[in-house]
Amino acid sequence: MKQAPILPSSGLVNTQIPFSSCFKPRLNTDFILSFKPLTSSPLPYKSPILNRIQTMAQGNIKSNRWSLQGMTALVTGGTRGIGRAIVEELAGLGATVHTCSRNENELDKCLLEWKSLGFEVSGSICDVSLKAQRESLMEKVSSLFDSKLNILVNNVGTNIRKPMVDFTAEEVSILLTTNFESVFNLCQLAYPLLRASGLGSVVFTSSVSGFVSLKSMSLQGATKGAINQLTKNLACEWAKDNIRSNAVAPWYIRTSLVEQVLSSKEFLEEVYSRTPLRRLGDPTEVSSLVAFLCMPASSYITGQIICVDGGMSVNGFDPKNY
Ligand SMILES: NC(=O)c1ccc[n+]([C@@H]2O[C@H](COP(=O)([O-])OP(=O)(O)OC[C@H]3O[C@@H](n4cnc5c(N)ncnc54)[C@H](OP(=O)(O)O)[C@@H]3O)[C@@H](O)[C@H]2O)c1
Repeated sequence: MKQAPILPSSGLVNTQIPFSSCFKPRLNTDFILSFKPLTSSPLPYKSPILNRIQTMAQGNIKSNRWSLQGMTALVTGGTRGIGRAIVEELAGLGATVHTCSRNENELDKCLLEWKSLGFEVSGSICDVSLKAQRESLMEKVSSLFDSKLNILVNNVGTNIRKPMVDFTAEEVSILLTTNFESVFNLCQLAYPLLRASGLGSVVFTSSVSGFVSLKSMSLQGATKGAINQLTKNLACEWAKDNIRSNAVAPWYIRTSLVEQVLSSKEFLEEVYSRTPLRRLGDPTEVSSLVAFLCMPASSYITGQIICVDGGMSVNGFDPKNY
């Protein structure tokens, strides 16, 4: 039977990684936490290399690189789907979160649930497609968080699916206002607060439709393409203020937004066949990336649009009979 590696001078056993890799200094705190002291060992811990690694790991924990403790966040559209998962992820990692949606009953229900979980989350009724309501929302956020905001997650977005030539002027206006104008304006309104926090992070919810053509989604795809470019521009324009700007770009995630289209078995089969991981995504698989992009651990990442798509956007030729 293969023995677990033993570090001779330290009296520590690592049950998870090979002996040779123990001496590569790494910042991963799990590395240190995976060492278990040998209770029977009489030797005190002496190895200078391991000492250094341990100090680095402890520094990581102390510096809160992997935490959102003490941070403030605004997440739009937090009562369902991806937005709700983001609210819970950020609050669970220590942030104080404000969110908004249009349905008062649903918002109140969520707020009660979050309170019972011990999350610090407050909420406003706000339709982000309306300028006056966006302004009230930001005033509320400013008064709640002492005119400082660390995190802005522009999550609200909607979709209307039809051939390009069939869009009415009203539908064009709904999609442009909800998916782009509101986002652009919320960034403008949040800017003084983000700057005042000294450590700001904006995360946009884009879509793979902003990269590749998806049938009947020409206008939604155009709004997400615009979000992608805004992500890059803000990264450069606001870097001087220590505000980072990134986007997450999901493929099909099971939420109320796509419930109807995914109720077709044939459609679902086509989605699976186009997705290397052969499944839909879960909202928590997007929220984990959003949280990472808000943490000090991602402090050198800005201007990036990261797909959360089970490999869909890199899938080229995948013949069934080969
Ligand atoms: N689900 C996917 O497969 C998928 C894929 C790619 C990208 N996305 C993007 O991910 C984001 C979230 O999508 P989702 O699937 O989680 O959507 P969802 O299930 O429809 O949830 C949307 C959330 O936003 C709120 N909301 C919608 N319109 C609003 C408005 N005008 N003002 C304020 N709040 C509003 C909704 O609450 P109320 O209705 O009560 O206002 C709800 O809380 C969108 O930007 C979407 O484009 C989703």
